[in-house]
Amino acid sequence: MAVGYSRSISRKLTVMNMLVSAAALLLACAAFFAYDQITFRQSLVRTLSAQAQIIGANSISALIFNDPQSATNTLSALKSFPNIASAGIITSDQRPFAQYSRDAGDEVLNIPAPPDGRLEAYWFRATHLVLVHSIVFQGKTLGFVYLRADLHELDQRLKRYAAIAFVVLLLSLLAALIVSALFRRSVAEPIVQLAEVARAVSQDNNYSVRAAPTAAQDEIALLIDAFNNMLQQIQHRDNALQAAHDELEERVEERTRELVSSNRELEAFSYSVSHDLRGPLEVMNGFSYVLLKSYANQLDSSGKECLQSIRAAARRMSELIDDLLNLSRVTTSVMHREEIDLSSYARAIMEELCRTAPERNVEFVAPIEVKAYADARLVQIVMQNLLENAWKYTSHHDRARIEFGFEDKDGRMICFVKDDGSGFDPRSTDRLFQPFNRLHTSAEFPGNGIGLATVRRIIQRHGGEVWAEGAVEKGATFHFILEPNRGTEAGRPV
Ligand SMILES: Nc1ncnc2c1ncn2[C@@H]1O[C@H](COP(=O)(O)OP(=O)(O)OP(=O)(O)O)[C@@H](O)[C@H]1O
Ligand SMILES: [Mg+2]
Repeated sequence: MAVGYSRSISRKLTVMNMLVSAAALLLACAAFFAYDQITFRQSLVRTLSAQAQIIGANSISALIFNDPQSATNTLSALKSFPNIASAGIITSDQRPFAQYSRDAGDEVLNIPAPPDGRLEAYWFRATHLVLVHSIVFQGKTLGFVYLRADLHELDQRLKRYAAIAFVVLLLSLLAALIVSALFRRSVAEPIVQLAEVARAVSQDNNYSVRAAPTAAQDEIALLIDAFNNMLQQIQHRDNALQAAHDELEERVEERTRELVSSNRELEAFSYSVSHDLRGPLEVMNGFSYVLLKSYANQLDSSGKECLQSIRAAARRMSELIDDLLNLSRVTTSVMHREEIDLSSYARAIMEELCRTAPERNVEFVAPIEVKAYADARLVQIVMQNLLENAWKYTSHHDRARIEFGFEDKDGRMICFVKDDGSGFDPRSTDRLFQPFNRLHTSAEFPGNGIGLATVRRIIQRHGGEVWAEGAVEKGATFHFILEPNRGTEAGRPV
């Protein structure tokens, strides 16, 4: 590439030099030749005119005394002018009187008289110049003398000039070549080197290279200086940027480490809190049971009701603690990806749900097979929660349709669980996945509000995404992707 550039610029310089010298030379030659042509033609006309006048003057007596021989003798003096091809004298009534021809057999020309009022006229033909001169004696036109001169001398001059121009052109092109070779060192080479450095900079992002300075104090030296300056500035900025980037990366890593460790601490803390809460709760539950069984006869009905409420609340609290423990286990357990069939999970869960309430009229649709590469145990929890929700939130309808399926979007498999149940207000979509956030009351539908939070954590651990769509009484659809987005860390099987 660089070689190509080097050739191109020095070749351009050479071609430019040669073109300029050739153009100047050709223009000068053309101008000179045109000038020479004009002056040569003018001097030819003048010479012929003088010769015609002399012949005319010498032929007056021959015409007066009708002596063609004497006129022919006068004409034969033209032998000493080799450029005169033929000549002749014509009487005033256009009859040939005497003639001369350099080469025998040259025909007699039919020459018109000069236009009225003019003593002389001439015409340039392709190969000849013809001049006619009136022979006047005492105001009376006795006849005309014509001379025909060859123009081949003009051609020869042209050829000579062309040959000279060609030789000079060759010499000047040679000189231009030598000059460009000399100038190449001082003009082309520094530019080629500069281009080479610029290429290295843009290709390798290497800002430490510098273009070699030249000894000359010209614009190229200025350009090289400015370029090197610019490189230095970019190098400084690049270094500063790299340093800032490294520092930022280090800080991010440090923060991530801190976050991960405090997250772990928090999870461990919530796990142990939930775990430790179970002990006193079991005691409350056990003793209230004992109280109800052994001391029932000592309590009146409202006392018994209070005890029942205490037991119900303890049970509910135990459930909540179970859910919390499950949620933290989902985050901390080791993940193991393998190939699984989501459809078979969905069918098994739906069969189980149908067994719990065989009286319900629910249509379930699912493809034969939906393969995924994920953690079997965790995905089972996702499917369980989503299908249980679909089952639960369609329970107020006489008939329901629940569908599990998938679609392909840009090479990523998007699974969905869709129902036509009570749905939800789409403005609250964000709240669905937050722990203990419920869009329905416990009176409408029982639940702890932890299911979707668990689903989201599992999907996040897989590096995927989950989102919901729905409208009140128009059903709900939960979409999820288990594969991580291409190129993300989470993409590696854990
Ligand atoms: N299929 C659905 N149709 C309508 N609303 C839904 C559906 N699934 C979830 N929701 C709404 O999202 C809320 C959160 O769901 P989530 O599964 O987390 O809790 P839950 O079902 O109430 O309790 P649980 O912890 O037992 O699952 C629900 O309370 C409900 O309002
Ligand atoms: Mg739920």
